[in-house]
Parts: sequence; C-alpha cells; structure tokens
Amino acid sequence: MFIGWDFQYETGIKVIDSQHKRLVLLVNELHEAIVVGKTQSILESVFQTLMDYTAKHFSDEERLMLIYDYPEFKEHKDHHESLIREMEGLFFQFRMGELPVASLKVKKFLLNWVLEHIMDDDMRYVEYVDSTEIDSKFTDMLLEKIL
Ligand SMILES: [Fe+2]
Repeated sequence: MFIGWDFQYETGIKVIDSQHKRLVLLVNELHEAIVVGKTQSILESVFQTLMDYTAKHFSDEERLMLIYDYPEFKEHKDHHESLIREMEGLFFQFRMGELPVASLKVKKFLLNWVLEHIMDDDMRYVEYVDSTEIDSKFTDMLLEKIL
C-alpha cells in the first residue's frame, strides 16, 4: 500500500471522510498499477477514474463550503482548480508518452496532493464548520441528502 489511512486524516464529517478514503484507495490503485507494470490503457483508465472522482469530491466540498458560508471559499476553490490543472497536465504528458508513469514526478504528486489537501485545506474548513456550532449529526444528515 502506498498511502495508509490514518485517524489524523479524519475530519469527523462522515460523507467527506468516506470520499477521502475513496480518494486514497484510488491513489493506491493507481500506484499499484504502476508498480506491477499494467498496460498503458489500464493505467490511463485508472488515472481517469481518479481524476473524475477528484472533480466530484471537490465540487461536493465546494457546495458544503457555500452552505456554511465559509469565508475562505474562494481560496479553497482556487486551490482545487490548480490541483485539477496540475493533475490534468500530468495526465496529458503521460498519455502523450512524454512522461514515464513510473517517474518520480507522478509519485511525488500522488503522495502529496491527497494528504496536503486533507491536512491543510480541509482541516481549515472543518474547523470553521465545527465552530458554527451546528450539530455534526445535522451536517452528516444534510450532506447525505444533497451530495
Ligand atoms: Fe477534501
């Protein structure tokens, strides 16, 4: 396993935690596919799945932040957009054969982005959501209905 799940990554918001776990799972799947030398088309499809799920996760988070009127919404959204652009850039180079998938650049990106995203960006909005004193069960219930 490339990235192990750790309790410190948990935000306490059920829907978000389960999406983060799925992201980690997809990163692990891609890494595993690289290590065992799967074919280019399989690698592309795993990479694509990871990108699609990332886009879904980011847009769900953006809705959550809007609902809570999060003051740093714009910065967080900008960060999402730059991560997506970076990921698309890697994917493009990879598909064009300009970047060997086993390159350190891909590994470094995969290792860092999910964890940085969770630990830096997400923990900030979670702190804000918690500080609104809206019951966390209510947050879970609300998100299950809208996401
Ligand atoms: Fe997140």
